[in-house]
Amino acid sequence: MSHLSDTSSAALPDYRAQSPAVAARFAKIKERPVVLTIDKLTRTFPSADAAAGLVTALNQVSFDIHRREFVCVIGPSGCGKSTLIRMIAGLDEPTSGRMLVDGAETSGPCPQRGMVFQGYTLFPWLTVKKNVMFGLDMAGKSEAAAESEARQWIDLVGLSHVADAYPHQLSGGMKQRVAIARALAPNPRVLLMDEPFGALDAQTRAQMQSHLLEIWRNVDVTILFITHDLDEAILLADRIIVLKAHPGEIQEIIEVPVPRPRSLDQLQSPEFQATRRRLDELIHPKLHTPAERLPIVRLTQLGDDVE
Ligand SMILES: Nc1ncnc2c1ncn2[C@@H]1O[C@H](COP(=O)(O)OP(=O)(O)O)[C@@H](O)[C@H]1O
Ligand SMILES: [Mg+2]
Repeated sequence: MSHLSDTSSAALPDYRAQSPAVAARFAKIKERPVVLTIDKLTRTFPSADAAAGLVTALNQVSFDIHRREFVCVIGPSGCGKSTLIRMIAGLDEPTSGRMLVDGAETSGPCPQRGMVFQGYTLFPWLTVKKNVMFGLDMAGKSEAAAESEARQWIDLVGLSHVADAYPHQLSGGMKQRVAIARALAPNPRVLLMDEPFGALDAQTRAQMQSHLLEIWRNVDVTILFITHDLDEAILLADRIIVLKAHPGEIQEIIEVPVPRPRSLDQLQSPEFQATRRRLDELIHPKLHTPAERLPIVRLTQLGDDVE
């Protein structure tokens, strides 16, 4: 287990402290209309262990997201992140609770919400352009209108040069850029992203984070982004919703004090590090007493000299 030295962590500012510019940005965000309201959302599943009854994947989760806000949801594996975003996308039904888009209660999938998954979900038999046109065709646009709009979205994600290629001809990062263009093309109010860069290598992932921030600066869309990567959440988000598991509940909602525009250069800044330390405390709580440690079964015949 690694330990920050007390002196370095004591030198960090409080993660709740905001510079005047950051505080002004949050004040402006809160003045904008609420696009998405999640109201006491609960989802239970039958347990795999029949005797255990029901598993509460999410319990009474409530939050609001303002127009053009970028919100990340973070939490340990199994805390209900995918369950939450699938319900918001209309791919699953809550056991109880409500969701509102622009103040109107909604259920079921609809074009107001676009979704990007971790796995590549492009249609392999369609070109990049036809993949992006798909939702526009479904919305009843003429072929010419769909094609010209698709071209604009493909330009925006920087893929004009491969508009006629097929998904298997693209790298992982390019496929996710097509997936983002496809999700944005029908002009959703909210873009929902479930660990979209989780399968990419570190360098491509960093590039995709910058691309996404750039896309978001140019499009009037609100983003709800799920990740289990602490740095990714801090780099992208205005606010971070921290979930805990069993049952999935909100632990804390953090206003990220790192100024925009963001870049990887800020990783070492005091605000970034202070936020990271807080997320670490919430998500990786230290094992305090020996009784909380995992029982270790010794599988080696070597003596104690290995320690
Ligand atoms: N379709 C399902 N049937 C039964 N249990 C499920 C189902 N989907 C999720 N769960 C359970 O709900 C909890 C949260 O899962 P999930 O939302 O996938 O978490 P995360 O995405 O945060 O890793 C887990 O305990 C998981 O086993
Ligand atoms: Mg998940």
